[in-house]
Amino acid sequence: MCWIFAYKWDKEASPFLLEWLKNLEYRGYDSAGICEINKAGEFYIEKAVWKVSNLATKVENSDKELEWYNTWIAHTRWATHGKVTMENTHPHYSKNERFFIVHNGIIENYIELKKELEDRGYTFYGETDTEIVAKLIEDMFETDIETTIKKVFRRITWAYALGVIDRQEPDTLIWVKIWSPLVLGLAEWEYFLSSDANALARFAKTYINLDDWEMVVIKGNTHKIISLDSGLSLDKQIEDITYSEDNYALWDFSHFMEKEIFQVPEIIDNFIKWRIDFETLEIKSNTLEELAAKDFKRIEIIASWTSYNAGMTASYLFEELASIPTTVYVSTEFKYKKKFINTDTLYIFISQSGETADSLESLKVVKNKWGFTFWIVNVVGSSIARLSDLGLYTHSGREVWVAATKSFIGQIWVLLIMALYLGNKKDLEYTKYKEILACMQKLKDNVSLVLLESQKIQKVAKKYAHYKDMFFLWRNIQYPMAMEWSLKCKEITYNHTEAYSAGELKHGPLSLIEPSFPTLLINPEGRFTDKNVSTLKEIKARDGLVIWLITKWDKNKDLYDDVIEIPHTIEELSIFPVSVALQLFAYYAARELDREIDKPRNLAKSVTVE
Ligand code: AGP
Ligand code: GLU
Repeated sequence: MCWIFAYKWDKEASPFLLEWLKNLEYRGYDSAGICEINKAGEFYIEKAVWKVSNLATKVENSDKELEWYNTWIAHTRWATHGKVTMENTHPHYSKNERFFIVHNGIIENYIELKKELEDRGYTFYGETDTEIVAKLIEDMFETDIETTIKKVFRRITWAYALGVIDRQEPDTLIWVKIWSPLVLGLAEWEYFLSSDANALARFAKTYINLDDWEMVVIKGNTHKIISLDSGLSLDKQIEDITYSEDNYALWDFSHFMEKEIFQVPEIIDNFIKWRIDFETLEIKSNTLEELAAKDFKRIEIIASWTSYNAGMTASYLFEELASIPTTVYVSTEFKYKKKFINTDTLYIFISQSGETADSLESLKVVKNKWGFTFWIVNVVGSSIARLSDLGLYTHSGREVWVAATKSFIGQIWVLLIMALYLGNKKDLEYTKYKEILACMQKLKDNVSLVLLESQKIQKVAKKYAHYKDMFFLWRNIQYPMAMEWSLKCKEITYNHTEAYSAGELKHGPLSLIEPSFPTLLINPEGRFTDKNVSTLKEIKARDGLVIWLITKWDKNKDLYDDVIEIPHTIEELSIFPVSVALQLFAYYAARELDREIDKPRNLAKSVTVE
């Protein structure tokens, strides 16, 4: 999934580089590797499977004179082609051990290229698509590395960000970017390339966001960015990097996931301060004003998983509060379905990272057909935010590891604000608008109460962590909550969980119910309480176990096997305490099972391949 690539002069390379790799490990932690060369073209390569700390141990125990090396490439891998082995770990190299490369993405035509190279006598030590490019560079070499790469990139089908060093030109580094993210960090006498600006924050003060079909060439202490289309040098905007030590510190928490859940009240507080004037009952946003003026008749939302679940929540909010029919698509499917892009429809792209390849590609398709695109993104300056027409940041702060928690809350908050704003401009009753805003003011306290009672949730989670299967059920606006927390449990507990609309249970899944297959039924007070009691009865009649997620003092308390209680709020806002309660449930269940919570197996935070 990911790679980083560094370049630096006159400082000891490895300790710095390893620290940096750790910053990027969230993008992939199947294996990690570095290659360093010095001015004489001598090289040092080291690789290790799994964590960067394994690589660090090897580097620390190495007897190489590391301060010699001043040009480096490095990579943390999320395997797409080939198993998690030393052979498949990057950097990869050519047959003559002259060219070394790291790569984020996928080379789609690698089978055809491999065949061609095999016919010319090349053999391969591993199974990756990346190794083929290393050999192709050797095969196509002509004059110098820059000229060669300009030819090679035309042979390989994207998506990729690719970094290359040539031992014969040890002061040159080349990168090519086609669809996978890449930023160039700038510091005095130093250059850094990285898959995202977050990882640069401690080292560079400014950065340049690279666009598709661009190539960076660094020679000595000069750099140029070239358009691969026109061949011309480009003058690109330099942006500041903001860095907060708090993002990287775990404080007293056991995991980043725990820390990020406990940051939710603070995030809600910030949102309220920025966007809502409770005296005038006004939502302040030039962006939303501009959006409302366009008076879209339909909304289509495109996103992946957690962000898709936020989109599903929004479909209820846009329809209920703003009376705008809304359809939600997973981006993997949207890209390839027949599209009826029109000017009456608003296309919303939701993404924590702003780099998810499936969402980004879908966005490009809509833009190419002149659809109006709106982004809801957490990472400032990310590709989706840069490419869309208009948008809002979720301002949830950096989310370090895999499970999306506080960013999901940020997404549903921004979507709620949008729905309220658009509704208020249309036919949402003013009393309803006022009621929701009044309750939003108390939401921070409401969510804090859930966190205060986290030990009770932990007790329930500890018990149910040991069931291998589980259903999560609800109706209406809580349905996406069930989907989201079923996903969260899968990701970090590795238990099998499924989410259904409660009414659908009787149409099939009920056959799975037995004492070893519990159900978590989300049922805060509201329009659907009685219907959920019927579902609960159906489960109990089959000896199924039920955890009841209810509002405190619910009159149906006696019907449950176990209970998770949340404080009272109105139906539209109950998604917030429910989310936090279920995030804690998933977290504590994974902790009980002693899982690698922040780095669950097979996953990566930012999925930049299709
Ligand atoms: C969330 O816990 C997941 N790790 C994952 O489903 C994520 O939501 C998805 O990959 C979309 O990412 P994005 O929001 O950065 O686009
Ligand atoms: N496709 C390459 C591989 O499987 C790169 C994966 C990545 O982006 O980490 O090794």
